[in-house]
Amino acid sequence: MARGPRLEATYEAPPNIALVKYWGVRDRERALPYNSSISVTLDRLRSRTTVRFDPDLSDDEVELNGTVATGGPRDGVVRFLDRVRDLARVTHRAEVRSRNNFPTASGLASSASGFAALAGASTAALGLHLSGRELSRLARFGSGSASRSVFGGFVEWRAGTRPDGRDCYTRPLYGPDHWPTLVDLVLIVKGAPVKEVRSEDAMKATVATSPAYRRRLAELPGRTRKIRAAIGARDSRRLFPLVMEECDSFREVCETTQPSLDYLTTTSRALLGEVRTINREAGRPVAAYTHDAGAHMHIFTLRRDAAKLRRRFSRLPGVERTLLLRPGPGGHRVE
Ligand code: PMV
Repeated sequence: MARGPRLEATYEAPPNIALVKYWGVRDRERALPYNSSISVTLDRLRSRTTVRFDPDLSDDEVELNGTVATGGPRDGVVRFLDRVRDLARVTHRAEVRSRNNFPTASGLASSASGFAALAGASTAALGLHLSGRELSRLARFGSGSASRSVFGGFVEWRAGTRPDGRDCYTRPLYGPDHWPTLVDLVLIVKGAPVKEVRSEDAMKATVATSPAYRRRLAELPGRTRKIRAAIGARDSRRLFPLVMEECDSFREVCETTQPSLDYLTTTSRALLGEVRTINREAGRPVAAYTHDAGAHMHIFTLRRDAAKLRRRFSRLPGVERTLLLRPGPGGHRVE
């Protein structure tokens, strides 16, 4: 029997942390957000995904971190593969193996790195040669934040305004080496609850019920512009207060959602207070906190202050582990 081409590829993608949060879908069909978001792609952490399409398989086989995926996580991958199969006009089922080099349950945005890696591996396996922009456009159907993990450094996902979504795309703002002294101190907190509500459903509830959501949307264009400019100028004194203001706005709309979305633990809340105290004591913005839909904290600071802050945070009860990360490169194919 003649053998066909080897329909297999491996792709690695990193997580990212949003400085301006994506929270709200204006068009589910086209995966269009209400607002533009900005993130930093993180170095060292990776999802590595191998996809092999096989005409002899009767069903998709999905393995995540060494365990056969079932239920929601499997369905998400299968739905995404269906989209890729449509694009490539094939019907083969696939074997997917994905592994993170960081704990998945740690809440470190594994959906962003995971779907960016799945997008890269599945399209490469089928010989679809997508540009970065096309790949990020596809990745966002897996998870919105995944569209930003395709690129390295400082990345913007532009919401656009057109109903057809043609002006919605993701672009790198500045490369990973733009701001060499900026670091992200990640604080892994003990007992972080596993997410009960998927982000997609949580956002939908926020848009429908949070009385603060409209105001957030009205404030965002101005705040986003200022954050973009502060990154461009590598100005931490301007950037850090804006990052915290944005994080507080995100938390406010979550907490005023019905039923309320509370992602933080007592430790996470104490850490917010600790950062405010540190800045007050120093009389300048030494650090900025931010968090995703999870309990762990990302503390942005400058390299010269990182070691001292790391010692201070490591001593706090409830902080399990600290990681010192930097802006890093985006997703890429692994041969
Ligand atoms: O990409 P999703 O659907 O997992 O949503 C991400 C939501 C936040 O992480 C809270 C914000 C963001 O922009 O990454």
